[in-house]
Amino acid sequence: MVDINTEILGLIGYPLSHSLSPLLHNHSIKEMGLNYVYLAFPIKEGELEKAIHGFRAINVRGLNVTIPYKEAVIPLLDEIDSLAKKVGAVNTILNENGVLKGYNTDVIGLSRMIEEDANFTIKDKKAIILGAGGAARATGIALLQKGVGEIHLLNRTISKAKDLAKDWQAYYPDSLIKVNLLDEKIYKEFIAEVDIIIDTTPVGMSPKHNVEPLIKEKYLNKDILVVDLVYNPQETSLLKAAKRRSAPNINGMGMLLYQGIESFKIWTNHEINVSKWRELSMNM
Ligand code: ATR
Repeated sequence: MVDINTEILGLIGYPLSHSLSPLLHNHSIKEMGLNYVYLAFPIKEGELEKAIHGFRAINVRGLNVTIPYKEAVIPLLDEIDSLAKKVGAVNTILNENGVLKGYNTDVIGLSRMIEEDANFTIKDKKAIILGAGGAARATGIALLQKGVGEIHLLNRTISKAKDLAKDWQAYYPDSLIKVNLLDEKIYKEFIAEVDIIIDTTPVGMSPKHNVEPLIKEKYLNKDILVVDLVYNPQETSLLKAAKRRSAPNINGMGMLLYQGIESFKIWTNHEINVSKWRELSMNM
């Protein structure tokens, strides 16, 4: 029940029509008997700064930040957590007595999904990351943070991949990071040694789901974990190919769930059990 002591949590972004977060968070708030409410705040372009000042003024406890504000919000905050700094993006804000601190729980969301849901230990493993956008940036930091053995970053536009790898290398100077064009002639030379492939591109996302996977099916096998961050459709053409080749495979839904769970922990110190959220998200 909402009363005089209810604290406000919420989501900012634009547009917000498809977000599951309000439903998931409010379900757990109710189930745990906590005095919070989680609301959606669609903030139009040009209104972000005013909105953040407003949230500070009315003492909102915490916010999730989504597209298109994950980078733009950074200069408006008082402190940035070191991991969020490395990613260059904030998806969670904590308001502690008027001091706004930015975090990035996408990173831990991704590593929890890989380690807990796919039962895969990242440390010392060889990885391919496909794509060099914002999602790739968080993915690389997640792997490097967990002590990955080697990253092959493959992208259609090599210059973008080079820039990203340079940023990663500056934060993790001892890590092995290689960059290449996303091309079969190139990846066929080393893919046999790879333990995990993570596709961070929107390729295969609904409605254009009938596409060729970025990695040819014949290279997939039971010794490679295939991760596609796309979760709509639940099984992309890449994951279907992995399945046909008996390769372990997982979509990005777990990352979405765990990042929310980690944000909730930052705001409330309470840990949500992922299984309930998984069940709810399946039925939505
Ligand atoms: P996000 O922030 O979600 O990661 P993004 O910044 O638009 O999104 O990045 C999308 C990534 O997917 C890019 O690396 C893009 O490749 P380019 O750098 O060459 O643009 C990649 N991508 C998108 N569509 C692709 C396609 N059809 N084939 C290969 N890569 C693709």
